[in-house]
Amino acid sequence: MAQLVQPIANGAFVLSLDTDFDGCMRLVRKVTSELPTYLANSLNSLRLEGQKTAAIEILQQFDWEVPDWVIVPGGNLGNIYAFYKGFHMCKELGIVDRIPRLVCAQAANANPLYLHFQSGWEDFSPVKAKTTFASAIQIGDPVSIDRAVYALKNSNGIVEEATEEELMDAMAQADATGMFICPHTGVALTALVKLRNSGVIKPTDRAVVVSTAHGLKFTQSKIDYHSKAIPEMACKLANPPVNVKADFGSVMDVFF
Ligand SMILES: Cc1ncc(COP(=O)(O)O)c(C=O)c1O
Repeated sequence: MAQLVQPIANGAFVLSLDTDFDGCMRLVRKVTSELPTYLANSLNSLRLEGQKTAAIEILQQFDWEVPDWVIVPGGNLGNIYAFYKGFHMCKELGIVDRIPRLVCAQAANANPLYLHFQSGWEDFSPVKAKTTFASAIQIGDPVSIDRAVYALKNSNGIVEEATEEELMDAMAQADATGMFICPHTGVALTALVKLRNSGVIKPTDRAVVVSTAHGLKFTQSKIDYHSKAIPEMACKLANPPVNVKADFGSVMDVFF
């Protein structure tokens, strides 16, 4: 409901199906081929045309100086391709002279692109996605797999992955600076940390981590983390409230 409440509130006609993303995707393909409905998913190349403006905005915000790396969380893999397309277009137009190296960051629980990259781009196999806090990228059979591979090969790109513990710790670490990020952004931040620690991303490199959703859509995961209520997770950056009796003396005792 946290994800659905915005279209519901805006008056959309919403169907809730008892399946995962890949199951919905299979049905959506069928339904849109039978009915004159407009598909706004990234199967529709017009959606990607719109998404590529994010690449142009990054370049503009960097005063047209190309960052060395752009890290994007990936599930259905439309975004990573759209970023590539946007950067490539700016290069073709002569606005910039190179494009950033792209990093696609996946949740280890839904990592078909990561496995494909690790195999040296050998045969691609979809996976059955396991549950991840980064629920928007809980996808085992990405629609835009070929586009993503093309984007990564042509940008000297890399695929990284983040375990549930890594992505939740990264989210908590970012939030502690005053941000309020979503778990997908935690996946991308984990990729940055791993690539920086392994020396792939150099200290002087400029890297952009794309934040794809607002943390307010993922408050339950943050509540569980800070309550240390996630099974088999240390939640080492949890910052739970101190329970204090509602009297002046007890409150003062906490401070002194
Ligand atoms: C919050 C969030 N993060 C990341 C993504 C990943 O984009 P893609 O599925 O195009 O790889 C999506 C896609 O809808 C998303 O909603």
